[in-house]
Amino acid sequence: MALCSRRMKYIRLCSHINNFIRFSSTLGTAKKGLVLGAYSNENNGVSLTPVAAKYNELSGGKLLEQIKLAGNEVKAGKCFVFWGLDKEYHSVAIAGLGKKSVTHNEDIELLCEDNEAVRIAASAGCRALDSVGIKNIDVEDFCDAESAAEGSNLGIWKFQEYKTKKESLPQVSLFKLSENASDDWQKGVIKAEAQNLARRLADTPANLLTPTIFSEEVTNMLMPLGVDVKIYDKEWATNQKMFSFLGVAKGSIEPPKFLEITYNKGNNSDAPYLLVGKGVTFDAGGISLKPAQGMDEMRADMGGAAAVIGTIFGLAKLCVPANVKILIPLVENLPSGSAIKPGDVIRARNGKTICVDNTDAEGRLILADALCYSAEFKPKWVLDIATLTGAMRVALGNAATGVFTNSNSLYTILQKAGSLTGDRVWRMPLWKHFTKQVAENTAYDLNNIGKGKGGGSCTAAAFLKEFVPEKTNWLHLDIAGVMGPQDDSPYLHKGMTGRPTRTLIEFIRAQV
Ligand code: BES
Ligand code: ZN
Ligand code: ZN
Repeated sequence: MALCSRRMKYIRLCSHINNFIRFSSTLGTAKKGLVLGAYSNENNGVSLTPVAAKYNELSGGKLLEQIKLAGNEVKAGKCFVFWGLDKEYHSVAIAGLGKKSVTHNEDIELLCEDNEAVRIAASAGCRALDSVGIKNIDVEDFCDAESAAEGSNLGIWKFQEYKTKKESLPQVSLFKLSENASDDWQKGVIKAEAQNLARRLADTPANLLTPTIFSEEVTNMLMPLGVDVKIYDKEWATNQKMFSFLGVAKGSIEPPKFLEITYNKGNNSDAPYLLVGKGVTFDAGGISLKPAQGMDEMRADMGGAAAVIGTIFGLAKLCVPANVKILIPLVENLPSGSAIKPGDVIRARNGKTICVDNTDAEGRLILADALCYSAEFKPKWVLDIATLTGAMRVALGNAATGVFTNSNSLYTILQKAGSLTGDRVWRMPLWKHFTKQVAENTAYDLNNIGKGKGGGSCTAAAFLKEFVPEKTNWLHLDIAGVMGPQDDSPYLHKGMTGRPTRTLIEFIRAQV
């Protein structure tokens, strides 16, 4: 229950809504639309949100009249569009929130279902108005302005970067402001922007987002926000003895890069939170070449890097007072005459030798050196995030990010963050059982693939564990299942998802 306290605050706010209701006086030339909400009540009729009820009153009861004519039912996540209810709004979408008394189903679903209902409804309303050509949309606060802003801004966004004639995306604003609702709306806008940034990076084709281009784009984006970006090259990595990272890079003509990003808005004396993102800008598998079908998806094998960039963008825009360090190893994993070969043995930064039995298990090789390097910053904890294993997709589909961790307390914080954002996590085992499968070898220390049957995500995590600095709280997030591409969903159009950026933002925000 405590989890959803954000919503409680909004409910109190809603009781003061009368004080803030006023029609906007700006009558622009573009057709304006309005998104309002309705609950389903016990007898399958509707009950309006406080803002929708007020609008109904101001429209002389026309809204309820129209809903009745439409069948007196607005299903959860669906909506109706009505025209000509008042002079200002050309169209009004009424979106269904489901039953008002929806429980906070945290034991089984691990989800704040009421917040999620708001995201879905706000998105449905905005998409419906967009589809009838309304590009200037006001959205009510649904008693949870933050979720309303998230749903609206995630729901209308599409990846259309390389389309010559782009569809214009609607402008979305909050309807009927109170000061507090306005702040919460703005927070939601920023979190959605952060996830949309991760979506864009992940979906960008690999020829247009090489390690070099990624580094430059990120520098241009983050520097103006007071975030420092250092771009290290192959020579630096060689001096650092990062031969596991460099081993993967050998297969491509594109030079590898290693990013060290610093956001210092906490106390000087506070140890940083440290995020590591897998940045494989294209994963063909190397000499252990992947099948052709669906290989294009591997343009998003930097989804971990995209999520941590979205996270730092969000934290900086929200002015969260924290110290955060981000490490991103960037490479292409390609087959070539100079590529690493199955059976080759390489040495990681911490001196451990690795037999590369499968060159397609490259993510763990580049993360290994980044995890070793993280010790330099004496972090409070280390979290790595990676599109690491196809096995993660098999295990959880796109329902949740798989989390492996040695810290129960950090897991609890992360799980709560996921429930609140609707982008959930699920814990996976980090047992010696799996370590044995990568560490029991005669001729070298570690094998980059597990020797047992199945459990591919767990052996990958066990491999990474060998590179985590001693006595460090650590979380490994495998996002192969949630990265996309996905079909249209209630509030993410098809394509790469940028998940779980909002959960990471919330995870850090909850600790300051
Ligand atoms: N990038 C892939 C994992 C992946 C697969 C992410 C599908 C998203 C969707 C990773 O580098 C990989 O190829 N992993 C191999 C590991 C195997 C060779 C042990 C895999 O999962 O098949
Ligand atoms: Zn791979
Ligand atoms: Zn990969």
